[in-house]
Amino acid sequence: MNLESMLFSQGFGARRQCRALIAQGRVTLDGVACTDPDHALALSEGFTFGVDGRVWPYRERAYLLLNKPAGYECSREPQHHPSVFSLLPAQFATRGVQCVGRLDQDTTGLLLLSDDGQFVHALTSPKRKVPKRYLATTRHALDTAQLDALAAGVLLHGEARPLAALAARARSEHVLELTVQEGKYHQVKRMVAAAGNRVEHLHRERIGQLALPATLAEGAWQWLEAADLALLRS
Ligand code: URA
Repeated sequence: MNLESMLFSQGFGARRQCRALIAQGRVTLDGVACTDPDHALALSEGFTFGVDGRVWPYRERAYLLLNKPAGYECSREPQHHPSVFSLLPAQFATRGVQCVGRLDQDTTGLLLLSDDGQFVHALTSPKRKVPKRYLATTRHALDTAQLDALAAGVLLHGEARPLAALAARARSEHVLELTVQEGKYHQVKRMVAAAGNRVEHLHRERIGQLALPATLAEGAWQWLEAADLALLRS
């Protein structure tokens, strides 16, 4: 692959824009500006390049994890709040990265994004039943009847069958740990309401075996590495 095609594949704009970046000496290889768009590259594992002084790894597909703050919509065309894409470098939207399922604007925590359609589908398909663990802060104190109802299944408006949590446990009087395998609209909030309580704040802390890293600040993102992807597939 040549330099121009590589930049294009990574989302640094239309081909014309990639050629301009290169011509302007803003693209570096091993720290040295390369102004030849046809420069041939050996894209081995660990290949990096620089744009405007920032070093990027080459990734055939982008797999990202974002610690989503409240007040952001999981859409590229948000209606009422800024988009989660405003928290990411622009090239990710350009290369077609999308959210792996959606969190409500006021929900915080683990959000995956990717431009690998098969990966997105595998994690969101109802058939795959990937467990997602949430922490819900509730308005009223939790009790056994609510936890039992969530585990046994609650019938939500518009659903043919009751939805049961894979696990429902009180971490404290007002903090519910709830694991669900579907990804229905407002699912956790609706399930908790159907069990007789109300979600005041919702946070996703785990998808499959992958947990939100404790070291990742709110609003910050990181690449998913091979070990993270293996956890998601296990
Ligand atoms: N369930 C909800 O109600 N909201 C979310 O954002 C995610 C799961």
